[in-house]
Amino acid sequence: MEKLVIITGVNKGLGNAFFNVFLSEEKITMIAISRNFNDEQIKIKNKHVIFIKKDLSKLNNVEEELKLNNYYSSQFKEVIFINNAASINPIESIGNFDDESIVKAVQLNTIAPLLLANNIIKNNKSKRIRIFNISSGAAKRPIIGWGIYCSTKSANEMFFNTLKLQEEHNKHIEVHNLDPGVMDTDMQKNIRSKTKKIMPNVELFKEIHKTNQLKSAQEVALEIVSTYNIL
Ligand SMILES: NC(=O)c1ccc[n+]([C@@H]2O[C@H](COP(=O)([O-])OP(=O)(O)OC[C@H]3O[C@@H](n4cnc5c(N)ncnc54)[C@H](OP(=O)(O)O)[C@@H]3O)[C@@H](O)[C@H]2O)c1
Repeated sequence: MEKLVIITGVNKGLGNAFFNVFLSEEKITMIAISRNFNDEQIKIKNKHVIFIKKDLSKLNNVEEELKLNNYYSSQFKEVIFINNAASINPIESIGNFDDESIVKAVQLNTIAPLLLANNIIKNNKSKRIRIFNISSGAAKRPIIGWGIYCSTKSANEMFFNTLKLQEEHNKHIEVHNLDPGVMDTDMQKNIRSKTKKIMPNVELFKEIHKTNQLKSAQEVALEIVSTYNIL
């Protein structure tokens, strides 16, 4: 069965690990939506990979800006959405954020995934739809300095839980909020670079790194792909 996988943020970290897993799968056509593509990706010429370059903090209209309708062909019996792109920035004390940085982060972390999920469901009514929202422990737990990240991740979980409830009797739609755990990516590097003043528990993240408790993005991607039989 041919599948269409739509994934955001593929040039590095977990998104890149998923990208590499799907790349070699003949039966998967992948739409990779990313603000940047890495050196290997820009050399890829494969009719099963559609690259859409987009800064998702500037997405306002999916149909006009991404033209996903061009790819929702009936040859695909299943559409999989992996909501991966996100930023932990700005890390700052509440009361010290720039307005612009709040708007940008909410656009990327929450508005873009909501727009994409709505567009996918609206335009693929007769197909099986599987949504994997890459969430975080921060969706459920406040962390000082991460006010925007925690609240956007939390908002996404509520949206996808609402979708799950709405579709509980529909066997064609499946929704998962997944916490990948701490991974050795640029996001963690960024966290470790913060001061105690802004992020009092920064030492904990340094310790997790020092004691090799971070999982690799590849390990996490493979674990998710196999647990949920995505291929
Ligand atoms: N790392 C962890 O420990 C951890 C823990 C729990 C949950 N998570 C979640 O796991 C997912 C992947 O995180 P990661 O650790 O792989 O992060 P990462 O290494 O920082 O990668 C994030 C991805 O999102 C993309 N992105 C950022 N801003 C974008 C924008 N404006 N438009 C389009 N794409 C943009 C990045 O591309 P650019 O290079 O263009 O910025 C990159 O491809 C995220 O949803 C994160 O919240 C991570």
